[in-house]
Amino acid sequence: MNSSVHMTSAEPLSAIAQPCSDEVFDAWKRDVVQRTEQVLERALPASNITPARLHEAMRFAVLGGGKRTRPLLCHAAGIAVGADTQALTVVAAALEMMHVYSLVHDDLPAMDNDDLRRGQPTVHVKYDEATAILVGDALQAQAFITLRDSSIPTDCQARLMGELATAVGSCGMAGGQMIDLASVGIELNRTQLEQMHRMKTGALIQASVRMGALCAENASFDLQALDRYSARIGLAFQVVDDILDATMDTATLGKTAGKDARDHKPTYVSIMGLHPARQLAQQLVAQAHQSLEPVGAAATWLHGLADLIIKRVR
Ligand code: IPE
Ligand code: IPE
Ligand code: MG
Ligand code: MG
Ligand code: MG
Repeated sequence: MNSSVHMTSAEPLSAIAQPCSDEVFDAWKRDVVQRTEQVLERALPASNITPARLHEAMRFAVLGGGKRTRPLLCHAAGIAVGADTQALTVVAAALEMMHVYSLVHDDLPAMDNDDLRRGQPTVHVKYDEATAILVGDALQAQAFITLRDSSIPTDCQARLMGELATAVGSCGMAGGQMIDLASVGIELNRTQLEQMHRMKTGALIQASVRMGALCAENASFDLQALDRYSARIGLAFQVVDDILDATMDTATLGKTAGKDARDHKPTYVSIMGLHPARQLAQQLVAQAHQSLEPVGAAATWLHGLADLIIKRVR
């Protein structure tokens, strides 16, 4: 595969003293998204490489939008601890591939049976079910290939791969998805619901922050503080996703609204109600900000991303 995925042309990204204006934050976000998409574009096999249908479908799934939250978190954490920008850009792309794999499978008829994602038909609708399964399989592998093809030192690569694999395995995302599917029509208690959300969504969000920080190989930094931050925003992110499903329209969401209730999925809205769920998300984000105290002014972008999560339901 392309061995130059680590190459980026723009200037290094850096932290700025907080607080920053919305304009500055938006410009930073745009820059990270653009860098991530450049690497994704190069790291995914071209759509004329055999099997062309699979490669075309992989590119359709990955390159067609999304908030790129995990790449942003990876960069924000890495910048906070002085990580190398080129390494962060590759790790961010690997995280996004893994995330998109989870979305493609999440939408399959055997799982959530959704026909809209990021404002476009889901992969199994546009192509077919078998192709969508293979897109997920291949994107998962491509995430590791992307890390392997980078110029990140091999011992750091191994650590990053371990973090990523653990986050999406049976005690992380895949396990959380299993619990989600087994919980249809069942009333979970708060503890059970929290565990499901932390696994299916929180684990990859936590890995995004950890992997960004781990790119600063020799830095001495407070990984525990970053873990506390990401645990809180990881849970808040899925609580907000539950709220949006119940309150937003399909056109704005770019995915089918109101589906959780229709499918009898236990969510924070179904077990707590809308207002308490919103309060919980706000509380988690406030706690996430507090967790960043030891990181100091270098945590500017991490603070901004925490606010961004809650802004979606304000
Ligand atoms: C949706 O993730 C699925 C969840 C884990 C809640 P995002 O809300 O990050 O989806 P995109 O990447 O922006 O499309
Ligand atoms: C999905 O949760 C979490 C994943 C691991 C993809 P949801 O099923 O709530 O995500 P959406 O609402 O379809 O994006
Ligand atoms: Mg789901
Ligand atoms: Mg879903
Ligand atoms: Mg959802």
